Amino acid sequence: MGVSATSFAAKWRSGPTQVIRVPESMAERLMAIARHWDTTGIEPLADHVLAEPSPVYQLGLPNIPRLEPGRPVNVSSVPQLSPFRYPGGKTWLIPTIRAWLLHTKPKRLFEPFAGGAIVSLTAASENLVDEVVFCELDDGVAAVWKAILSDDCHWLIDRILSFDLNEKTVREELSVSASDTKTRALQTILRNRVQRGGIMAPGAGFVKTGEGGRGLRSRWYPETLAKRLLAIYGQRERMHFIHGDALSKFRRYGNAQSSALYVDPPYVKAARRLYSCWNVDHQAIFERCRDLRGDVLMSYDHTSEVTNWAIQMNFDTRAISMKHTHHTTMSELLIGKDMSWFDLSSKAAA
Ligand SMILES: C[S@@+](CC[C@H](N)C(=O)[O-])C[C@H]1O[C@@H](n2cnc3c(N)ncnc32)[C@H](O)[C@@H]1O
Repeated sequence: MGVSATSFAAKWRSGPTQVIRVPESMAERLMAIARHWDTTGIEPLADHVLAEPSPVYQLGLPNIPRLEPGRPVNVSSVPQLSPFRYPGGKTWLIPTIRAWLLHTKPKRLFEPFAGGAIVSLTAASENLVDEVVFCELDDGVAAVWKAILSDDCHWLIDRILSFDLNEKTVREELSVSASDTKTRALQTILRNRVQRGGIMAPGAGFVKTGEGGRGLRSRWYPETLAKRLLAIYGQRERMHFIHGDALSKFRRYGNAQSSALYVDPPYVKAARRLYSCWNVDHQAIFERCRDLRGDVLMSYDHTSEVTNWAIQMNFDTRAISMKHTHHTTMSELLIGKDMSWFDLSSKAAA
């Protein structure tokens, strides 16, 4: 199938275009890389990198980033790759994730509690790992990932681009009893866009006034969504999604020394309000992580209970600041087997 960047209303940002012809097997991935360059402004490859006889598609990305743990990250500086606006999403943690993966250099990243999966998407799109395995229990969220990583992605993109979003059309679409994955995926994306705070748990209401008084449409950016879906589809050969309970997958995907696990379970305090699947056995997560050969990075509420679990199981911890949606600055806790990479990256910033 031909792949064209010009089949979307919003085309390239970086100026004039040129038609190139490449083998079909490379096309999707090259498009995803080119789109990433286009949206992030990352400079295309230097000549000497191209001259290297390497089969790896390099984005020319970064040196180990400098971290400032006491200063919250400005999330607008991080490429937004996820189709979700996810409650508890970790876009703000991306500079830290880059530093961790560039130090650890795993071949595989396993993200057992994926949600909006910004960590997996970034790791894949920036070539920080060879493959990503991500898992989610929630049926609606899982339907989105399954649809995007399959040929249903094209149907989903068409429906998003042609959806005339207003209260009537949304209610109609959400009232359909979804018998297939792609319809379920569309419903979940709509819910995520029109419900307050992107919350998809039962009881969440529709946005009322929204950004700039645009009401229900205030978070509806169909062309941006279409671009993100296409970029993810382009990475599908090395992004493996699992629908199910994460705890039963830790050993299988995290026990190799060349694996790394990013673990972001539902928040201890706020989980019930934010997620349909909120009830997890935190002690069991800590035990699983302790016993695996792969490296682990967990992010948690900075509470005394979490700190105690970490101490009891001999984990290393570091506090990091993040800015809440209500603009208050909060401290979160990063937990790993050995967090010295975090100090190295932070010292580099001093
Ligand atoms: C804190 S959120 C993850 C947010 C994610 N890091 C992001 O940036 O969007 C936790 C996620 O874990 C999912 N979850 C809860 N229990 C699960 C389980 N047993 N297995 C897999 N996923 C689960 C929830 O549905 C929720 O999407």
